[in-house]
Amino acid sequence: MFEFVVQQREGRARVAQFHTPRGVVTTPMFMPVGTQGTVKSISPQELSDIGSQMILGNTYHLMLRPGEDLVEAHGGLPGFTAYPGPFLTDSGGFQVMSLGHMRKITEEGVTFKSHLDGSPVHLTPERSIQVQEALGADVIMAFDECPPFPAERDYIQRSLERTIRWLERCLKVKSRSEQALFAIVQGGIHPDLRQQSLDLTLPFETPGFAIGGLAVGESKAEMFPAVSFTAERLPENKPRYLMGVGHPEDLIAGIALGVDMFDCVYPTRTGRFGYALTDDGRLNMNSSAPRRDMRPLDETCDCYACRHYTRAYLAHLLRAEEMLAPRMLSLHNLRYLHHLVERARSAIEQGQFTAWATAWGQRYFKGDL
Ligand code: GUN
Ligand code: ZN
Repeated sequence: MFEFVVQQREGRARVAQFHTPRGVVTTPMFMPVGTQGTVKSISPQELSDIGSQMILGNTYHLMLRPGEDLVEAHGGLPGFTAYPGPFLTDSGGFQVMSLGHMRKITEEGVTFKSHLDGSPVHLTPERSIQVQEALGADVIMAFDECPPFPAERDYIQRSLERTIRWLERCLKVKSRSEQALFAIVQGGIHPDLRQQSLDLTLPFETPGFAIGGLAVGESKAEMFPAVSFTAERLPENKPRYLMGVGHPEDLIAGIALGVDMFDCVYPTRTGRFGYALTDDGRLNMNSSAPRRDMRPLDETCDCYACRHYTRAYLAHLLRAEEMLAPRMLSLHNLRYLHHLVERARSAIEQGQFTAWATAWGQRYFKGDL
C-alpha cells in the first residue's frame, strides 16, 4: 500500500502512480478542495467526469461542524460525501492560523476560538490524528505549525523544531495502517532552515512528504527557490506535495521542480467570483466583453459548460446572480487545471515537457482577454 511508482521522468519532472486504498492515482495531480465535505457546488459525479482523483477535506472545519463522529458514522468522508475515490485531509493547524480567533500556541497544541460560535477549542497532534482517523481519508497530514509571513527567523526555527516534536506525537498515536501520514517540511523561505527541517523530518521515512509554509504571502520569487531547494532534497521514490498551491503557472513551475501533488481553493474561488481559466489567461466574465460572445469559455475544453454554453449565456447568468454561473465556472476551472496537469503528464511521457511548458507560458501570459 502507498507504493509510489515513477514511470517517466524529464529533468526533475516525473509521472508516477500512487497506490492508495481507494484506488491508484496518477501524478502530477491537482486536488480539488472540499473543505466542508463538498467541493463547493460540484457533485461527486461531476468530479469523476472532469478527472478529479483525490479530494481534500479539512480537520478544522469538520471537527467543529458537523463533528467527526457524524462523518465516521457514515463510514468516513467517502460515505458521508458519496465521493468513492481517495481523500486527503489537512491536519488543522494551518486553518487555525488563518481562521481561528485568539489563538494560543504552546508545546501542547493550539487553543483558539471557533470561527462559528466563538467557543474555545483545543487542537493537539493527538486530537488531529484522532479526528483524521474518524474522517477516514487515505492520506492524512501531520499536525504542524505554519508560521505567518513575514516571521522572525528565530520564530521559524523554533516552530520547525516544534513541528518535529508534533510529528513524533502524531506517529505515536496513529493507529490505522490503511492511512498514510505525510510529514510536512517547514522552514519558511530560508534555505538553511529548510535544510534543518529536512534533516529532522526525513529520518521518519513517512510514505510521502509535504512542502508547507509557502504561499502565505511571500512573492513567487521567494517561494520557488524554497520549493526547488526542498523538492530536490526529498526522496525520489515518494510523493511530494506542495500545499496550498494552485495557480496554473505555479502548477507548471512546481511540476518542473519535481512536485507531484497540489491543492488550492483558487479554481473554485475565482470561479465563484466570475473568472474563467483558459490558455490565454484568466477571462473576466464580469466585464462587458463576453456579453455578446457566442464562443464557449474555452474552445478546447470538454467540460459540461464549454460543451453547452456560450460566454454570453454564462455572463448573463452571472449578472443575473443565478447559481448556475458560479457552479459552471467552478466546474470549468477545475477541469482546466486537471486537463493542464494531464497535458503536463503527456508532455513528460513524450520528453516534451520543457518545450510544452514554455509554449504554454508564452500564450498564457500574452493573453489579455
Ligand atoms: N496548507 C498550506 N500550507 C500549509 C502548511 O504549511 N501546513 C498545513 N498543515 N497546511 C497547509
Ligand atoms: Zn470548460
